[in-house]
Amino acid sequence: MSEKAILEYKGTKLELDTIVGSENEIGIDITSLRAKTGMITLDPGYGNTGSCTSDITFINGEKGILRHRGYAIEDLAAESSFMETAFLVLYGHLPSESELTAFEAEIKSEATLHYGMKGHFEGFPDNAPPMAVLSAMLNALACYNTELLTTATEGPAFTIPTAKIISKVRAIAAWAYRTSNGKPFMPPRPDLSYSGNFLHMMFSETFSLYEPLPEVERALDLFFILHADHEQNCSTSTVRMVGSSHASLFSAVSAGVGALWGPLHGGANCEVIKMLTHIHEDGISPREFVEKAKDKNSPEKLMGFGHRVYKSFDPRAKILKGQVDNVLKALNVQDPLLDIAYELEEMARSEDYFIERNLYPNVDFYSGILLRAIGIPVDMFTVLFAIGRMPGWIANWREMHEQSLRISRPRQIYTGETLREYTPMGQR
Ligand code: SDX
Repeated sequence: MSEKAILEYKGTKLELDTIVGSENEIGIDITSLRAKTGMITLDPGYGNTGSCTSDITFINGEKGILRHRGYAIEDLAAESSFMETAFLVLYGHLPSESELTAFEAEIKSEATLHYGMKGHFEGFPDNAPPMAVLSAMLNALACYNTELLTTATEGPAFTIPTAKIISKVRAIAAWAYRTSNGKPFMPPRPDLSYSGNFLHMMFSETFSLYEPLPEVERALDLFFILHADHEQNCSTSTVRMVGSSHASLFSAVSAGVGALWGPLHGGANCEVIKMLTHIHEDGISPREFVEKAKDKNSPEKLMGFGHRVYKSFDPRAKILKGQVDNVLKALNVQDPLLDIAYELEEMARSEDYFIERNLYPNVDFYSGILLRAIGIPVDMFTVLFAIGRMPGWIANWREMHEQSLRISRPRQIYTGETLREYTPMGQR
């Protein structure tokens, strides 16, 4: 029996159940609150509100802990592959060798796009934002798979759309990039890994195949592992919200792309590079920029810093910081932006403004430098975040349907005009 929480208001006491999670997080169950009291809670931005119980990912923001199905992100980053981590996030256990082989084969089998989609890409202007193209084309996948527009969570009715989305998202991203640069689409190669194939589809030319350095292919696979899932963040909550109406998985992940695009969320990785480039090219000192970021009257933020949940170092930022060094050394590349990033981080660590607000580098602070070193264009950074996040979005959509959750429909507190008489035009 759970401990009770007592809510007292105007002399009336209400006992509320509590729920204690497997990591001893405590939630007050308010599902009966309005029926019993007529009252609701109010929590703009949902900083104190749990939308669900979930077995997929655990974050301890104070301790900088991130685990997927109980496995530490540090272990997955060091030992796993993106395909293995995607399977873990989706199905709850590390795959056996045969399970992983079958999963990878299904992903490989779905690597190309229906030829009919070519016309859609060619209809977009060359400067079309890749996240807009990605969101549109993920929804367009539904047009070519109308038999898969269900809420199935088991069997081929789930595994096939899942494989299609996780696999084809690479081709959509690469085709968007190539079409906007006047290049023909590069078909996937059956002999390449998930990440290797994405790089091939992005950068190979008709008579010169792109062969990534092992360090580059590993770095991209690690990037995808680190983005695989992250509890009920803005875009994952969007996927759940859209899926709760029983809209298809294609439309749910398409909506997730829309939420991820924002500069406060997944779009931050592009903004970090723009910020570092601005500092580097416009002769602004890191010190000047930090002062602007602290100034309430300045629109500048230290992009890639701060997090709703992490109040200490984002473990993913730590791992990416280490990986950036490896890739730059392997490519024999010096990036002045990296030195500026180190300087900004050093400053923020000693500034009261950042310390008092628990602002540390998040996943986006170093990821942009890594992608830039690999040769990914800045406007594609958030697209790659979406590619990595697909297994997490799909796993959350599946978990929601397995729990048979009701349609998501938050309440509000109305603060507008009370009833007033309608006055015809001549009398206003
Ligand atoms: C991601 O949720 C997730 O899990 C997301 C993510 C995932 O994997 O899905 O981890 C990916 O989105 C990472 C975050 C990427 N965004 C950025 O790097 C953008 C810069 N960061 C901020 O916009 C902000 O920190 C957020 C959006 C990340 C968090 O916003 P919150 O939790 O609403 O915090 P807040 O805006 O209320 O800030 C609290 C205080 C404010 O100052 P005061 O009003 O208390 O004086 O901290 C300040 C803010 O002004 N602040 C910053 C800052 N971030 C917060 N000041 C300067 N620079 C910053 N980056």
